[in-house]
Amino acid sequence: MGQAILAGLLSSGIDASQISASTKSAATAERLTDEYGIEVFAHETNSDANGRAVELADIVIVAVKPAYVVEVLTDIAGNLRADALVISVAAGITTQSMEAAVDETVAVIRSMPNTPAIVGRAVTGLANGSRASEHQMSLAQHLFETIGTVLVVDESKIDALSTVSGSGPAYVFFFIEQFTKAAIDMGFSPSDARLLVEQTFAGASELLAASGKEPADLRRQVTSPNGTTMRAVAVFEEANLHKLFADATAAALARAKEIAAGK
Ligand SMILES: NC(=O)c1ccc[n+]([C@@H]2O[C@H](COP(=O)([O-])OP(=O)(O)OC[C@H]3O[C@@H](n4cnc5c(N)ncnc54)[C@H](OP(=O)(O)O)[C@@H]3O)[C@@H](O)[C@H]2O)c1
Repeated sequence: MGQAILAGLLSSGIDASQISASTKSAATAERLTDEYGIEVFAHETNSDANGRAVELADIVIVAVKPAYVVEVLTDIAGNLRADALVISVAAGITTQSMEAAVDETVAVIRSMPNTPAIVGRAVTGLANGSRASEHQMSLAQHLFETIGTVLVVDESKIDALSTVSGSGPAYVFFFIEQFTKAAIDMGFSPSDARLLVEQTFAGASELLAASGKEPADLRRQVTSPNGTTMRAVAVFEEANLHKLFADATAAALARAKEIAAGK
């Protein structure tokens, strides 16, 4: 995720000399420097890597696994500028716990991007902690707009947002897998099945975006009375697809609560 944000920032025209980063391994640090021309410090070879990476920064993006966020913030607290803005992308880690790890003057914002960031098509939820100014929120918004679209929400909503858009790409890939299997079952070769399903998802999504219509309207347009599509949609309705989505997102939300409680 950190790399996707980095790529977005650079492609939006920010100069590589304005960015420094740190990683755990020297191998990743070397790869990032080669690929993007930025300065990268590796924790493996320099125990002060994280501190070095942040010491001049106005904005610090923390993109380690959730379990390490507070540890990393505690590690860099003494190196952060007093007016720094820290933005975390970690799932389940509250701004309260992050604010407690850094000086009172350091502002903290929580974000939840998703993996289409890699192709500049993320949707990112942003939530303020108790300290970031309007200007800092607007800076964060502009930053995440370099990798897609942004929705500002109250922090109480960010875990729920994560169960929709954060995990959502995995759900979509799972549907594509299952739909492709069904096409193979109907006699198509795996490559033909893949082409049919993937192009249907991509085409339908583009049509939805371009038409400005509601998905239900577009669905009705392909569903002739007593036709074949109607039969198929009836099967989805019978399986109570809505409940399935509600149950799946509720399960993800329950897990976010467990993570926040350190489980
Ligand atoms: N993947 C998603 O869809 C997604 C979506 C939204 C938010 N997120 C959040 O993004 C965060 C990162 O997830 P990811 O999937 O991108 O993980 P990842 O691929 O494992 O990347 C983590 C990065 O952090 C570096 N790192 C680990 N420990 C470090 C330390 N002590 N100091 C400095 N750097 C360190 C790693 O360096 P090395 O490469 O050298 O090990 C690696 O580059 C998570 O908090 C996750 O909740 C992910």
